Amino acid sequence: MNNDCPPKLGYRIGEHNVRHGLSLAPMAGNTNLAYRRLCRQFGAELTTTEMASSLALKYGDEKSLRLLERGDEEYPVAAQIFGSDPEVLRIAAGEIERRGFHVLDLNIGCPVPKITGCGGGSALLREPDLAARCIEAMIEGTSLPVTVKIRAGWSDDDKCAPTFAQKMEEAGARTVTVHGRTREQRYTGHADLDLIRSVKDSVSIPVIGNGDVTDVESAQRMATTGVDGIAIGRGALGQPWVFTQIRAWLDGEPVPEDPGLAERAALMLQLGRGVVELYGEHRGMRIMRRLATDFFRGCLGAPIMRQRSNKLETLKDLELLADALKSGERLEPVSD
Ligand SMILES: Cc1cc2nc3c(=O)[nH]c(=O)nc-3n(C[C@H](O)[C@H](O)[C@H](O)COP(=O)(O)O)c2cc1C
Repeated sequence: MNNDCPPKLGYRIGEHNVRHGLSLAPMAGNTNLAYRRLCRQFGAELTTTEMASSLALKYGDEKSLRLLERGDEEYPVAAQIFGSDPEVLRIAAGEIERRGFHVLDLNIGCPVPKITGCGGGSALLREPDLAARCIEAMIEGTSLPVTVKIRAGWSDDDKCAPTFAQKMEEAGARTVTVHGRTREQRYTGHADLDLIRSVKDSVSIPVIGNGDVTDVESAQRMATTGVDGIAIGRGALGQPWVFTQIRAWLDGEPVPEDPGLAERAALMLQLGRGVVELYGEHRGMRIMRRLATDFFRGCLGAPIMRQRSNKLETLKDLELLADALKSGERLEPVSD
């Protein structure tokens, strides 16, 4: 790998310096506080909550508000909200500030019909004037820097991200994160790096490239677009050390190897304990049924471990799974 002249990434959001430009992308159901702590430990410099409903914030719906747990050591941490009613977003913005977050992000990328059907998430890509009013209202409701996360566009015929990003800049957004897929693509195909480059060329606020970065090579490809930062989502699941590796490359240092099974097992367990601390054992293990599987992707016996993780009930079960992962022991399938 050519490590001669790594690019200089990094940007500021208000008073916050994201030195290497490396952030953990928000992922509903995954990037809870325990996961974010793990990624920070490995060098993620900006973390973002799972998306929360602006309406839930307005009405104080406790279940949704649990998504907005924040760690005192998380600095800076962004809260991400969705919605399409400027007045509701204005009120929600004030609530986010009261909760001690440092940055407020608006989701204009979510492709899920439950969200787009109410005009939120990627549906706003087709309503640039309304989207601009949403950003302006949020800025009115808080002194926090307001940022935005968008997609390449709605469809292949409508890759509006460059002009849309300009509109967001004019409305006052401080950074724009671009997932280089369209809404129609959802998670299929590839992120369009040329499109991300066009966004970078069309605005003067920092642009954070997002999509398909899973290692140093893919980070190198993303960096060729000229972006100021890289947001990593799925590539950090089960391998939070990807941040350390990319950071080493950016610093011109030797890139550390992937950790061995013992360390992976310890990290999975650390995450499990953190999730239980946040949500209790019952709910925590249900969350870990999904999160644990990422840690043994590609390992010997992964299908059986996946099956075992689908049945996690207690922390003790997770400890046994971690022991098996560590020792490379072959587990027996469990019956229903
Ligand atoms: C399970 C899952 C949940 C996601 N939830 C959110 C979310 O809450 N807010 C958001 O802006 N993007 C969300 N995304 C999109 C990611 O932030 C990211 O844009 C996308 O996965 C592409 O980046 P990646 O290839 O690095 O994963 C989610 C993606 C996944 C796979």
